[in-house]
Amino acid sequence: MNIGCLHLKNNVFLAPMAGITDLPFRTVARSFGCGLAFTEMVSGSGLVRGMEKTFRYLAASPEDRPLGVQLFGCDPETLAVAARIAAERGADLLDVNMGCPVKKVAKTGSGASLMRDPERAAAILWAIRKASTLPLTVKIRAGWNARQVNAIEIGQIAQECGVDAVIIHPRTADQGFGGRSDWGLIATLKGRLRIPVVGSGDVRCPEDAARMFRETGCDGVMVGRGTLGNPWLIGNILSHLSGTGISVPSLAEREEIIRRHLMLAIDFYGEKVGTRDFRKHLLWYTKDLKGGAQFRQAAGCISDRDSAWKALQDYFRHIEEPSTAFSGPGVCGSSVEIEGDDSWGPT
Ligand SMILES: Cc1cc2nc3c(=O)[nH]c(=O)nc-3n(C[C@H](O)[C@H](O)[C@H](O)COP(=O)(O)O)c2cc1C
Repeated sequence: MNIGCLHLKNNVFLAPMAGITDLPFRTVARSFGCGLAFTEMVSGSGLVRGMEKTFRYLAASPEDRPLGVQLFGCDPETLAVAARIAAERGADLLDVNMGCPVKKVAKTGSGASLMRDPERAAAILWAIRKASTLPLTVKIRAGWNARQVNAIEIGQIAQECGVDAVIIHPRTADQGFGGRSDWGLIATLKGRLRIPVVGSGDVRCPEDAARMFRETGCDGVMVGRGTLGNPWLIGNILSHLSGTGISVPSLAEREEIIRRHLMLAIDFYGEKVGTRDFRKHLLWYTKDLKGGAQFRQAAGCISDRDSAWKALQDYFRHIEEPSTAFSGPGVCGSSVEIEGDDSWGPT
């Protein structure tokens, strides 16, 4: 698949998720073969003001390629300057967030609020298009609410502005993550645009991804929550699509993935912040495993590398390999629920 001049090795992407898709998590997800990954959403004005914390979100590694940098903001000129900065800092692709429903973002006119302001959305996309020759995408929702579903209009505007692909999470902003995403809208958008359309929403297992491709005709599939504690889902989607079947990692393999992820987090954030921030991943990684509840209690007290290492060792030494009937992460039917629109915030 190509997005603008960027050739991608496949069309299964990791979704941007604030607070989750940092460099350590992306590195783990990349090891399962995803074709493209995105930073968490990055404040355009934070980049322009030179905020150190904002710049940290642009951190990447040679393994972490190709990388889409997702910008959010509401001022075209600021976002144009931010786009240049992101390009100078090594972005392979730029994406504009028009889907974040979180109040503190939407109330500033950024994120999903732009779905309600097509003129401003167009001005932003034009400004970025003029500022950078990098491949440019926009990530949209179905619309602001059920009375204002305008994804097709925004998608067409994006195409006219020279955007290279549209990514759609077809829920309205006021739905947050409730209900089901409306894949019919992905199909309609695909039918209306010449540029590639990428679908995002409710892909929890390899069969879902195959079904999204089949039912919508989309050019790419983006996976978000399904990868939490389950980054091998991406590899399983790719193998399912190529007809080679899926496999659930053994306990030893799981333990190795978790340890690698933890080490990457400690390298990136330092021991204290890295281990504390890693607790949520531990909860996700063990969600469907035997003894997970007990481990999750212990995980709440993990505060440094040694205690994390020991807790993992104790846990994995005492649990049994799931039976073949196991239907944990990676197989349809099990997933992490993140509800509510305060679950992702600005960066
Ligand atoms: C915790 C969390 C954080 C998210 N952060 C972002 C973000 O920063 N930018 C964005 O465009 N979408 C964000 N999303 C939306 C996802 O990219 C994706 O479109 C959505 O979760 C639907 O896909 P899924 O069902 O595969 O999770 C976030 C979702 C979650 C659950």
